[in-house]
This record gives sequence, C-alpha cells and structure tokens, in this order.
Amino acid sequence: MTLQDFKLKMISELSSIYEMDELNSIFNLLAEEYLKIPRSKILLADEIDLNESNQTLFLNALERLKTYEPIQYVVGKTTFMDLEFKVNNSVLIPRPETEELVRLMLKEDLDGKEILDIGTGSGCIAISLAKNLSNAKVSALDISSDALKVAKENAKLNNVEVSFINADIFEYQSDKKYDVIVSNPPYVTESEKLIINKNVIDFEPELALFVKDSNPLKFYKVIIDNCKNNKDPNAIIFFEINENLTDLFLKVFRDYNLKTCEIVKDYKLKNRFVKVVIN
Ligand SMILES: C[S@@+](CC[C@H](N)C(=O)[O-])C[C@H]1O[C@@H](n2cnc3c(N)ncnc32)[C@H](O)[C@@H]1O
Repeated sequence: MTLQDFKLKMISELSSIYEMDELNSIFNLLAEEYLKIPRSKILLADEIDLNESNQTLFLNALERLKTYEPIQYVVGKTTFMDLEFKVNNSVLIPRPETEELVRLMLKEDLDGKEILDIGTGSGCIAISLAKNLSNAKVSALDISSDALKVAKENAKLNNVEVSFINADIFEYQSDKKYDVIVSNPPYVTESEKLIINKNVIDFEPELALFVKDSNPLKFYKVIIDNCKNNKDPNAIIFFEINENLTDLFLKVFRDYNLKTCEIVKDYKLKNRFVKVVIN
C-alpha cells in the first residue's frame, strides 16, 4: 500500500464524518507523525510504499478515527500557543479559545507574579504562561492525578518549572497568596450535553466538561469566594466562561460588588472570558 492508497481509503471511509479540509489536515498529521516527514514534503511522498509496521500504524489510526476519536488523542499530541503538548483521554484537548485567554493575560504586566491555574488539565495555560513569563512563579492545580501526570510531562517537554498541586478546589486550603488566578473550569451544563459533538462526549473526560444545571457557576463561586474571604483579595482573576451563562454570571456576581467584572469576547464574537478584580 502506498501513502496515496492510504489517503484515498481514508477519504472514502471518513468522508461522512469529516469535511475535506479536515481530512487533509488529519492526513498530514498522520504522515508527519508516522513517517517523520515535514509537511512541505508530504505531497511529494504520495508514492512511498508503506512497510508493514507503518501500514499497521496508519490503519489502526483509521479505525480509531472511524469511532469519532479526535485526531489529537490518536497521535497523542497537539499544539497550543505554538508549543507541543502531549494529550490523552484524561485531559481536555486544549481549545483555540483558551489560547486567546492566555494572550489576554499576556497583555498585562504579569512577570514576577505568583500565578495559579485552577483545573490545569494538560497544563496548557500554566505551561504557556511560564514559557512566556520567565520570572513568574506558576502553580497549577487539578483534582485528577491522571491529568497531572500529563501536565508534568508537558512541563518537562517544554522545559519550564511549574508547581503542581493535586487537589479538589472545593476542599483546597493553603496560606499561599497568589497575584493572579486563572481558570478554565468545567462549564458545559448537563442539559447542553445533547448538542455536544460525539467526538467530545465519547472521548473527552467528563470531569473536565460538565456541571449540573442546578449550580453551573460553582467553580467560579468557590474561586471568587476563596479570594474574597481569606486569601487573595487583591488578585486579578481570569476565567473562561460558557457564553450561554454570561447573564447568569453577571447577575450572580452583581452582589459581590467586584471592582472589575469585565466580559471579553472570543474570536467568534462570543462572550468567553471574564477579568475579575475584587478590591
Ligand atoms: C475544562 S478543563 C480545562 C483544562 C485546561 N485548563 C484547558 O484549558 O484546556 C477543566 C479541568 O478542571 C479539572 N477539575 C474538575 N473538577 C475539579 C475540582 N473539583 N478541583 C480541581 N480541578 C477540577 C478537570 O480535571 C479538568 O482538567
């Protein structure tokens, strides 16, 4: 089987799931990963004969893709803020919106600050902040020890120091003060499950995604309450939010008399981030 034969097979078997441009980029990712050829040379490699072990790799990937498994899990990695991150199904695949969250933060003068990323998952936010802020002290917390394993590998891969904390944010107690807190917590409501794509529902960790309809802002509340009541009343907090919960967010936190509660839109012009300053 040549690389071109595989490409044609892949297109015919996946065209009901993916658009043509998605199929092209999936094919390029597989060829780069399994044949170690640069993207610019892939077109010239059509006639390469795949040896038995490469055929097995490509065909196994195709079987996994047919089940709607995201390509990032199939190849075990993704790119975020121009950095490489390992991913597996214990971590959420970092999203482009979250890159915008990091860029929003990098507009502020954060070097030298103590930063805490709550619900770090793959570590994408904490690690890219550490990479871009050489003097910041970055910590990252997650309840999932499997996610933290991946995040630790990613810190090593990207050659940055991040202190990792394995804890449930609803129970976490510490005297440490942070200047900046960031969180992209679970924010998809159970009732929104119905409109979520199969590749997300079947493969990404539930723990990273969903909150109950009865208390969808619980992560934001505990983080703001912790800062307000005991720890870091002067901290700047950056959140990623569910655009459908913006009005509820503003309503719930109106009573908090926050100094700043600024909603920022993402590149799709959806309400996606909030910058909060308490005092
Ligand atoms: C939406 S994911 C965000 C992952 C990553 N920060 C990103 O932006 O791609 C939310 C993360 O919160 C973690 N999490 C869920 N419940 C938690 C809790 N009670 N305490 C701490 N972390 C929690 C999940 O394990 C998951 O890694």
